[in-house]
Amino acid sequence: MPLVPPYIEALEAYEPGGARERLEPESRKRRASKLASNENPLGPSPLALEAMARSLAGLNLYPDGGLALREVLARSYEVKVENVIAGSGSEGIMSSIIRAFLCDEDEVLTTEAAFLGFQVLARSRGVRYRAVPYREWHYDLPALAGAINERTKIIYLANPNNPTGTIFTKHEFDEFYRHVPERVLIILDEAYFEYAKDNPRYPDSMHYRYDNVITLRTFSKSYGLAGARIGYGFAHEELIRNLLKVKLPFEPSTPAEAAGIGALADKEFLHRTLELNARGMRFLSGAFAELGIRMPPSEANFLMLEFGGERRAREIYEDLLAEGVIVRPLQRFGLPHCLRVSIGTDEDNTRCVDAMRKILEASDRDLEPQMKADER
Ligand SMILES: Cc1ncc(COP(=O)(O)O)c(C=O)c1O
Repeated sequence: MPLVPPYIEALEAYEPGGARERLEPESRKRRASKLASNENPLGPSPLALEAMARSLAGLNLYPDGGLALREVLARSYEVKVENVIAGSGSEGIMSSIIRAFLCDEDEVLTTEAAFLGFQVLARSRGVRYRAVPYREWHYDLPALAGAINERTKIIYLANPNNPTGTIFTKHEFDEFYRHVPERVLIILDEAYFEYAKDNPRYPDSMHYRYDNVITLRTFSKSYGLAGARIGYGFAHEELIRNLLKVKLPFEPSTPAEAAGIGALADKEFLHRTLELNARGMRFLSGAFAELGIRMPPSEANFLMLEFGGERRAREIYEDLLAEGVIVRPLQRFGLPHCLRVSIGTDEDNTRCVDAMRKILEASDRDLEPQMKADER
């Protein structure tokens, strides 16, 4: 019997966006525009920082397991505290879900090229992982419903989805839900909820509650707290009760929990974040379209760009890097011909477009003599 199970041996560790570039010399890093990890370009919420600083004097004491944050969330969403969980990022809660509910013979079902964090967590459990292709870069919910079998235990849906940025509507979800047996748990990952919530087509899952759905949200994106590791979830109290048994007892940390509570009060920061993102999204999607780049419509804080092939995407990634623009290659997600670009500050966005234009114009020039030679 090997010490390391074969499914762990075969697993590649999650590599955060921009990880390789972190090894670059400091001088180069300072000049770089990091558009690789869907982080908030405004920095952290100031009210979160204040709350976090105030919490530090209590670091000699163990945390309360997220109770204070759960209470605040329960009040603001008008649910019971028993319906809420807090953890080390939404990935922390995903990890607890996988440990709490999956047995060896169960299967996990999701879309192809799903959020990499989920892929790695689910595969680390060693259960069967099945995926259904996208339909025009959207979840193919009817195909997913058709793929459910008697071993399916968890269905993972991200809305908006990472890396495509696309959403499914309430109507589409309701139709899908009718086909999901009660014994199947749906993880509805709404990490990018705040960016999509004002779109009338976007279903806020808190407006309807099903007993076998867990909604996950995070402070990592719109509140700028990715480094603090704080996220939360809503579900039926039976699910939460069992998750609380499995969760690390003292997660989230005291400063992370305080930051979450502070962030929830920071309406002004959220407003500025969403405004900057909407402006950047209009600018980047318009400019990329003008450059002839294809991309699905995004409701999040990033865009997925499609190129002719893996080599082309790789070259553009390297050329952008040389121009000081760090984006996210998607081969680990299973989309080697695509790159993901996070919306940055106005300055980052302009720099990204200028660099992309320069790279595409140069490659067009390089291609011309070859094409002429081919014509001859
Ligand atoms: C769809 C999705 N879910 C979850 C996460 C992770 O969020 P957290 O930082 O709360 O663990 C991300 C981060 O990129 C994401 O894109």
